[in-house]
Amino acid sequence: MKKDFLTLSDLTREEAEHIFSLADRIKYKPSQFSRALRGRSFVLIFDKPSLRTRLSFELGIKQMGGEAVSFTANEILLGQREAIKDIARTVSVYVDGAIIRTFRQETAEEFAHYAKAFVVNALTDKFHPAQVLSDIYTIRSKKRGGKKLKIAFIGDGNNVCHSLVRAARLFKFKLFIACPPQYCPSSEIVSSASGYVEIFHDPKVVARNADILYTDVWTSMGKEKEKMRRLRDFKKFTLNDEIMKRAKKDCLIMHCLPAHRGEEISDAVIESRNSIVFEQAENRLYVQKALLYYLAQRAK
Ligand code: CP
Ligand code: NVA
Repeated sequence: MKKDFLTLSDLTREEAEHIFSLADRIKYKPSQFSRALRGRSFVLIFDKPSLRTRLSFELGIKQMGGEAVSFTANEILLGQREAIKDIARTVSVYVDGAIIRTFRQETAEEFAHYAKAFVVNALTDKFHPAQVLSDIYTIRSKKRGGKKLKIAFIGDGNNVCHSLVRAARLFKFKLFIACPPQYCPSSEIVSSASGYVEIFHDPKVVARNADILYTDVWTSMGKEKEKMRRLRDFKKFTLNDEIMKRAKKDCLIMHCLPAHRGEEISDAVIESRNSIVFEQAENRLYVQKALLYYLAQRAK
């Protein structure tokens, strides 16, 4: 039966661990998987801009012998030119899997409900699960310490933050979030991970003794009209040397990218030896290949 990946809650811990061990094999022995998706077809529907997500999914499919066709916003006009349910049923006639980046989580859910093809969330307003699944893989590959690691997210309680909250519950780690009071993550999502998440409003507090400091843009795609207000409201939340001083010396800096240097992160911090942002981007290729391979096997 098909299995969708719309949030991290769609995976059990065992499935996530299985995907990570597949990702290890794909990373270090890619040739073993060069035919893993042979005869499989995928559609990528991207309603918002993307570099990493689209490139890594599309290349990943091709590297495993599958076919991929991509559409951007104006080509499909999701829900405008025709109903989402009609698009979902139509693409299912042609493809095994659909990878969707769109504005509302509900759109991805409606699409998945009507699609026979399995559906992967490539970012919505609420979640960015493919990003964070791969980020946990990256953290695991860099740090020992499991549950005891102190992971802190500084910035907007946005889609990436929500997926980190879901990850805290799935992988049982403590997540410390620092955000301005009016930009907290959804209380419903936070309470679904109760005991694993703590919210603060001072970045210096969460940075104290942190092993990982993670940040993301203050103005997510779709919120551009709020940009000026957000620049003011987040002024004290720039991940800079001042905040780094509070963290452990070997604290790793993560950012899903794209970064707005000088806003949520200083140039010096993103360029520092502690920064692993490009390794983070690289691992998306392996983890997403593993994810698609797993979901395609399940849908057989
Ligand atoms: N991190 C990430 O999803 O990047 P893109 O928006 O470029 O895909
Ligand atoms: N929170 C950001 C993530 C970009 C990958 C956004 O939604 O724009």
